[in-house]
Order: sequence, then structure tokens, then C-alpha cells
Amino acid sequence: STYENILVETRGEVGLITLNRPKALNALNNATMLEVVAAAEAFDADPAIGCLVLTGSAKAFAAGADIKEMADRSSVDMDAADWFAGWDGLTRVRKPLVAAVAGYALGGGCELAMMCDLIVAADTAKFGQPEINLGVITGMGGSQRLTRAVGKAKAMDMMLTGRMIDAEEAERSGLVSRVVPADELLDRAIDVATLIASRSQVASRAAKEAVNTAFSTTLEQGVLHERRLFHALFGSEDQKEGMAAFVEKREPTFRHR
Ligand code: HXC
Repeated sequence: STYENILVETRGEVGLITLNRPKALNALNNATMLEVVAAAEAFDADPAIGCLVLTGSAKAFAAGADIKEMADRSSVDMDAADWFAGWDGLTRVRKPLVAAVAGYALGGGCELAMMCDLIVAADTAKFGQPEINLGVITGMGGSQRLTRAVGKAKAMDMMLTGRMIDAEEAERSGLVSRVVPADELLDRAIDVATLIASRSQVASRAAKEAVNTAFSTTLEQGVLHERRLFHALFGSEDQKEGMAAFVEKREPTFRHR
């Protein structure tokens, strides 16, 4: 592949992106994040892929944005480059994106995991927003996504003290979906992604869009949006097949997957 900071492969219908800057604990420099976004967009456009997994190494999912790349910049430099703007592309991927997190997910690493749709954590995972120790704060949406995920009390604690939470606390707080033994992390994340990929992509796109709408609008508008998506799905072959298969007591064969 043409990537320098990530590894890209497929596992069946799952597109797997692995952060691969081991010497820097997968610190996220601009080049790495642009590669992640490009690889994710390519999988999003590939009809053979139904779900994506983003992972790091056993020691670090990612230890943050690359401090060495940012350290000497001025506020004018950061603004002129619109630093982090290109990284948001990940949130425009429409296929489900699973983060498989082992070891450190700190700073931008935690924010990157939260840009994914669900997080499967190894029992070794540690999440934190230590930016406060560097004289800065989150810059990739962390203050917003963390607060929505874990609530004000835990988000303030993490943002103001910089303390790390372990996988068990992260699950208890609602930051991660599941905690699994570290040596099974990738297999379990691929299993989740394979199950997601086995369903109709028309429906999974709608499900992802519907949940994300909960973060961006009122209850009334969100419920209305869900209703419209629900009605629209009755125009897909996969709705006909899914419901017919149930009535006929057989497994569905979805066309759009
Ligand atoms: C650049 C980093 C890095 C980072 C680690 N490294 N984190 N380089 N940016 N965020 C580098 C180290 O400099 C070191 O390089 C190598 O990776 C190994 O790290 P060590 O510190 O030697 O490992 P260890 O002692 O095991 O400690 C692990 C650690 C520590 C606790 C995760 O590395 C750490 O505290 N890292 C910084 C965490 C952090 O503050 N993250 C937030 C970044 S700010 P050398 O060359 O010395 O071997 C941020 C802003 C977000 O994310 C804004 C939006 C994206």
C-alpha cells in the first residue's frame, strides 16, 4: 500500500486499519490522520466492505496528537492550517466504525476512539485527556464527545485532572461498549464488525445516522428523523427480504451487503 503510518487490510467484509507508528506509541501526526481518513473513505466507497475496525498496538491505541509536531506552533499557525480540520473526515464515514483499543488511548487517541461508532476495549485499555498537563485542552471534539458519552461529572474530572481511567471504569461510565481479554481484542472486534457487516448496509447506514442524530438535535426533531428513516427503509429490498425471512422461518439473504 502507499501508506507509511498505517496498515490496511481486509478480513472478509471488514476493513481493518491499524495505526503503525510504534516508536511514538502511535502519536497522531497530521500525515497519520490524513492516511486514516483516506483509508476509511476508501473502505466506505467499497461495496464489498460492510464495517470498519480501527486499532493500534498492544501498548497503545494512540498516545495522543503528536506533541513534537505541535510544540513550536503559534496560534496563528494553528488557525491558518486549521489544525485537525482534515481529521474530521472520519466522522463523515457512513459505514459503522469500531475502535479496538488496547493500552493507552490518551488525548487525541481518546478523541479518535470517540470519533468511532463503538469502542471495544481490551482489559489493558487506559483512557485519558491529559492535555491539561501540557497547558492545552482537547482539540478534536473530546470535550463534547466525552461529555455526551460519560456525563459532566466524569468528563470534568478527566479534563481537569488529566487522570486516566481503566477499561472497567470506562465501561461503567458508558465510554466503551465491551471489555474483552487483551489477547482476544482484535478477534472479538472483528467478530463484532463481521456481525454488523452481515446485515443490510441500507439499514446499518440508517441506524448509525439515527443514533448520531441524537447528538445533534432536539428529541422531537430526532424522533421525526428516525421516523422518516424508518419509513424510507420500506422502499428497500432488504426490508422485504428481512421480514419475509422472519415469516418463513429462515435466514435472510440481504442484497445490499
Ligand atoms: C509525540 C509521543 C507521544 C505524543 C509518546 N510519544 N506520546 N510523541 N506525541 N503524544 C513518544 C515519546 O516521546 C517517546 O519517544 C516514545 O513515544 C515512547 O514514549 P515513552 O514516554 O518513552 O513511553 P512510556 O514511558 O511507556 O510512557 C507512555 C505514556 C507517555 C504514558 C503514554 O508516552 C505519555 O505521557 N505520552 C504523552 C501523552 C499525552 O500527553 N497525550 C496528549 C497529547 S496532546 P522517544 O523518541 O523519546 O523514544 C493531544 C492534544 C489533542 O493529544 C488535541 C486534538 C487532537
